[in-house]
Amino acid sequence: MAGLQGKRILLGVTGSISAYKAAEWTRALVKEEALVQVILTEAAERFVPALTFAALAGTAVHRDMFADGPEALMAHINLSREADALLIAPASAQTIARLAAGMADNLLSAVVLAARIPVLVCPAMNTAMYHHPATQKNIRRLRQFGYRVLQPGSGELACGEVGDGRLPEWDDAREALLSIFAPSDLRGLKVLITAGPTREAIDPVRYLSNRSSGKMGFALARTAMRRGASVTLVAGPVSLTDPPGVEVIRVQSAHEMAECVFARAGQSRVIVKAAAVADFAVDAPAEHKIKKSGDGLQLDLVKNIDILAELGSRKTARQILVGFAAESRDHQQEGRRKLQDKNLDLIVVNDILGSQSGFDVDTNQVTLIDRNSSREVPLMSKEDTADHIWDAVRSLLAAGEESPFS
Ligand code: CTP
Repeated sequence: MAGLQGKRILLGVTGSISAYKAAEWTRALVKEEALVQVILTEAAERFVPALTFAALAGTAVHRDMFADGPEALMAHINLSREADALLIAPASAQTIARLAAGMADNLLSAVVLAARIPVLVCPAMNTAMYHHPATQKNIRRLRQFGYRVLQPGSGELACGEVGDGRLPEWDDAREALLSIFAPSDLRGLKVLITAGPTREAIDPVRYLSNRSSGKMGFALARTAMRRGASVTLVAGPVSLTDPPGVEVIRVQSAHEMAECVFARAGQSRVIVKAAAVADFAVDAPAEHKIKKSGDGLQLDLVKNIDILAELGSRKTARQILVGFAAESRDHQQEGRRKLQDKNLDLIVVNDILGSQSGFDVDTNQVTLIDRNSSREVPLMSKEDTADHIWDAVRSLLAAGEESPFS
């Protein structure tokens, strides 16, 4: 389900200094095996030649509304008929104004006017142009038409000014495209997810932790977001970037994670505990760095609260609680035991012995166990695994109520 493979993307590039970034986006789309057709405006071609896009997309570039030949003559109608989504990046102030006015005076604007497919607009321009009431009014108008318009990035602009107006990051545009193609079956659902390891301090420089990368929890956050949920992600120390649109709270220790989760649990309809929480913390972390005098070091460990079990004991009738279990054997038996002991609705059992599942890899192979059934999910990407987990959550919600998200 995840990914842009096989999606037919019509990319409209307009006259902005960031047009060169659209060449990189073309490359990223092709790398993901999307099928890209490029339309250039006259101004775009001043920044990046058509040949660059043709070489990257592996197909001829469309520029002229009045080109010769039977195909070219109807290009303004046919191009969008043969695409799944229209991405305009960068969208200049001029093009945004053109589209807001419903004009069809070049190939791109004519294609947009004739399009019956989702349109995603990625503005890029000087900050004063972006904030001008005329541009803001035009953007509102585009949204009224049902187009999705991303917020531009903020920072230093090519003109030397600092402010809003940078082309959004590719990750944001990619997420927006993926959410166009994803089902909106989690719309309005409030979801709380935990991810990554926790760090338990020994002294100011050392800590106890584990090998969790956080990839599974972050994949859950991204996929839930794409499917329309409102997502809060409580993440231990990981080197992953915040998924676009997700509220991310970074924590260090199990104690911090517990406080953060308990404070938000009451407002969450679904809680997914993908974090690999440390079971033990150092009883009294040293205030100063421990010196290596002596032959060894004795650490007194105390048990951390089991956040998941505590959530299970506080769970309301409407809440769905999902836990993870890392097992090397007796997956079904262990999974079922934890499901019962911690009062869960669903447990995701990871096989930690598989080389392509579990810690720090991009794939996973899991067993999903609920109170009535269990299902083996074959080896696949963590994002696809996450979609299977959301499908299972969706079924549990639908089974529990007539109106699952009210
Ligand atoms: N978990 C938690 N708080 C802890 C420990 C674990 O919330 N202090 C949650 C994890 O987020 C995950 C599940 O419990 O959802 C992990 O369970 P598992 O790794 O199997 O550990 P345990 O339940 O502690 O069982 P075991 O006896 O196998 O260690």
